[in-house]
Amino acid sequence: MKTILSVKDLCKTYIVNKRQNNVLKNVSFEISEGEMVAVMGPSGSGKSTLLYSVSGMDNITAGTVEFDGRDIGKMKKRELARLRLLDMGFVFQQMLMLKNLTIIDNIILPACQANNGRKRKERVEAGERLMHKLGIIDVADNDINEVSGGQLQRACICRSMINDPKMIFADEPTGALNSSASNEVMSELNRINSEGTTIMLVTHDVKVAAKCSRVMYIVDGDICGEYNLERYSENSNLRERERCLANWLMEFGW
Ligand SMILES: Nc1ncnc2c1ncn2[C@@H]1O[C@H](COP(=O)(O)OP(=O)(O)OP(=O)(O)O)[C@@H](O)[C@H]1O
Ligand SMILES: [Mg+2]
Repeated sequence: MKTILSVKDLCKTYIVNKRQNNVLKNVSFEISEGEMVAVMGPSGSGKSTLLYSVSGMDNITAGTVEFDGRDIGKMKKRELARLRLLDMGFVFQQMLMLKNLTIIDNIILPACQANNGRKRKERVEAGERLMHKLGIIDVADNDINEVSGGQLQRACICRSMINDPKMIFADEPTGALNSSASNEVMSELNRINSEGTTIMLVTHDVKVAAKCSRVMYIVDGDICGEYNLERYSENSNLRERERCLANWLMEFGW
């Protein structure tokens, strides 16, 4: 499979009050097209920083990040913004949506920003198709405070998919959800992945990571282990996957 994300010797340092915090230390890894990779690790280990650094949301201190064969560190700001808008999708724990827009208008916002000559009607239709797929078409015209947490997160996934990205980056996409809403969101992410979109997600939840095809464990800004699983499908033995993963995580004191 073709490599979609290639990270070499990535370092990220924050300087706060003149003190240097080396958050990522020579991190290297690759993700192939079609993979679904979970990043786990203790709080403060650098998981979110890693996700934002490799997706061009945050600048890096040293090393290289290539997305789809392009070195994002060498891109001009506008070019990188365009890459993020068109080829990447983002889902966060805090479901960032604009309060004065309806759900459908939030979902099609990145399509409006893409300014690709599509008419509003076509964008709305594309948004509605996604909402239909994710089972939230009924709340298209609701305000964002008129839906459940699970519905809102599924709307965020629709928004992340509206420009048909090659890869989705998700930072604790189920972190604010109860277990049934978390399951709903994961089954959508699994489906999107099975249709070809590569996914990298950060999670604290073994149940979520067990539905991925690879788990990277990060401690103190360093990847200290990787665990490979078979691609998850509805027929997979989830309990067994969770058990094996939990056993592996115990090595790290999880
Ligand atoms: N914008 C920032 N400015 C300065 N320091 C930061 C910034 N963002 C993160 N850090 C620091 O970088 C380190 C790693 O933070 P990060 O948010 O990546 O951890 P995390 O693994 O995602 O943790 P959690 O599981 O709690 O979300 C922490 O020490 C944090 O204080
Ligand atoms: Mg985090």
